[in-house]
Amino acid sequence: MHNNLDLYAKVEDLLGVEEVAPSLYKYYSDYLKTIEFNSILDIGCGSGEFLLAIEREFNPKNILGVDLSNIMIQKAKDKGVNAKAINISNLDEKFEVITAVFDMLNYLNRPSLIEFLQSVENILSDDGIFMLDINSLDGFESVAVGSYIVDDDKRFLTIDSYFTDEIYYSDFTLFTKENTLYKKEQEVINQYFYTIKEIESHTSLKLIEAKNISLYQEVDDKIFLIFKK
Ligand SMILES: C[S@@+](CC[C@H](N)C(=O)[O-])C[C@H]1O[C@@H](n2cnc3c(N)ncnc32)[C@H](O)[C@@H]1O
Repeated sequence: MHNNLDLYAKVEDLLGVEEVAPSLYKYYSDYLKTIEFNSILDIGCGSGEFLLAIEREFNPKNILGVDLSNIMIQKAKDKGVNAKAINISNLDEKFEVITAVFDMLNYLNRPSLIEFLQSVENILSDDGIFMLDINSLDGFESVAVGSYIVDDDKRFLTIDSYFTDEIYYSDFTLFTKENTLYKKEQEVINQYFYTIKEIESHTSLKLIEAKNISLYQEVDDKIFLIFKK
């Protein structure tokens, strides 16, 4: 159903995400060390690495990851993570901590963002915490714009990215070797730039922290946010 997210899932391991992810996850775990919690929902959980780290460090009773890519959810399940391919508007249990890690929120267009923030509010326990990181304007403008080509034994991937009118377009083309032939898949993934003010304007959750992050060591490419109900 979500072909573009599934294509991303097929190539994420070629993108160098694994190397930088632990330093991003640390912002989340540093805050979690300061509170007590029994339940956590990770939205856009991807292949489940974040939740595995949370389980190892905090061992909360109730852990759930959701993602719209079936391929990602299968990868998470294969690692033993409790994960489901569903939209959060279909969840009815509440969580004390909700996370959206590695610029998941930037994948939402404006109507989806508004609906998403409403759903988060509905499924967050009273006094619950919603933590996320978003791409900054500098992050969109300077870090990942241009062409990227990478291959391994079986796959040849090109990504052409550009940022205009607050939308970041990434055109993914993947060739996968099948015997002596290559299968071609192509999808565009959009990300949307949002200011902190705009996010705040769509939610009644209270912003209690905003921290600049330099994940790729060039500019402050991300912002880490903590909201409280
Ligand atoms: C950059 S990846 C981050 C994955 C993971 N959170 C991590 O830290 O490695 C963004 C993830 O968000 C998922 N995603 C995008 N839109 C979504 C939505 N509306 N609901 C749930 N997941 C979504 C994608 O499938 C992808 O797995």
